[in-house]
Amino acid sequence: MTVAVLPGDGIGPEVAAEAIRILDALGIEHDEHSFGGGAILAGGTPLPDETLAACRAGDAVLLAAVGLPELEGKPVRPEQGLLGLRKELGVYANLRPAAEGDIDLVVVRELVGGLYYGARGVKPDGTVFDTCEYHPDQIERISRRAFELAQLRSGVVTSVDKANVLDTSRLWRRVVTEVAADYPDVELRHALVDSAAMQLVTDPQGFDVLLTENTFGDILSDVAAAVTGGLGLAASASLGDGGPGIFEPVHGSAPDIAGTGTANPAGMLRSLALLLRHALERSDLADSLDAAVNEASRLAPTPDLGGRATTADLGDAVVAALAAHPRPLEAV
Ligand code: NAD
Ligand code: IPM
Ligand code: MN
Repeated sequence: MTVAVLPGDGIGPEVAAEAIRILDALGIEHDEHSFGGGAILAGGTPLPDETLAACRAGDAVLLAAVGLPELEGKPVRPEQGLLGLRKELGVYANLRPAAEGDIDLVVVRELVGGLYYGARGVKPDGTVFDTCEYHPDQIERISRRAFELAQLRSGVVTSVDKANVLDTSRLWRRVVTEVAADYPDVELRHALVDSAAMQLVTDPQGFDVLLTENTFGDILSDVAAAVTGGLGLAASASLGDGGPGIFEPVHGSAPDIAGTGTANPAGMLRSLALLLRHALERSDLADSLDAAVNEASRLAPTPDLGGRATTADLGDAVVAALAAHPRPLEAV
């Protein structure tokens, strides 16, 4: 197995370094590639051809974060590389688990459609527009993912939309309802995005699988992270139909703490656990890594968790927890 590692910008390389230690311990082959703001500064493009080719050729992509304050508002921006890579790899299903205490939910976010990819431009009078567009097939395939996942969990899908206002949401609701007929063992609920956001804050225990379009999922997954320990802990898997997936934390490049050595690497390490589960099909290793990250977060919490540990301290604690495990990690 070969993993294309994209450390990116800001805290990206800092948290990626901790994941690379685990890849090394597992003997998983990996190469690092230029991506995001650093790639723009070095060569003018956030997704160099060489990087895209390496991602396509690998078995999985492990991506930390992109984004540089000095490139905000510029014609070429790091985030365009991320959107381009997701589209090129066809990873339409973004799974963002959020669990803590009695909260255990997964946001299933459509990742390659909607407002992020629709027609955009400037009208002659100066009006700027972005367009939300969805084809029924895009909604059907992400819905099937959500129902299949719900079958393995507690069997409830809450589909989020704004069907009281938007035509794309009315299409969304119709297609999701049609797909639901193929999964009679799963209960389908519909929720409008505004009240879903409220409920995610006040009663997150009420959700199991949250099915969303691209923009709503972006926003709601940060909220889901906030109610389950914070952005520093949140992981995601972006999957297509075969081909390499992208495993990426939910957080960004956190310029406010970049360079301080205090970023929490847990979201990155949990994303690596998702890679072990989905790309390597080694849920035993994924479970061990998740357990080690949980223990390390208790023993060596970083500042976002109320502690004083550095990124490397937490990484050390993960390595120690894995070594103390009844079945320490061995090369795969
Ligand atoms: P952010 O997620 O980078 O940071 C939000 C807040 O959470 C900050 O206070 C930050 O310090 C904190 N935080 C985030 N990750 C943390 C971690 N691992 N440990 C401790 N604290 C952490 O969001 P932002 O500040 O709105 O965006 C910064 C840049 O990141 C922007 O350029 C944005 O476009 C980009 N971004 C990239 C990705 C990605 O690459 N997948 C995701 C989100 C944002
Ligand atoms: C995320 C990020 C990205 C998104 C940005 C950086 C393009 O916020 O992965 O959640 O909106 O998808
Ligand atoms: Mn986001």
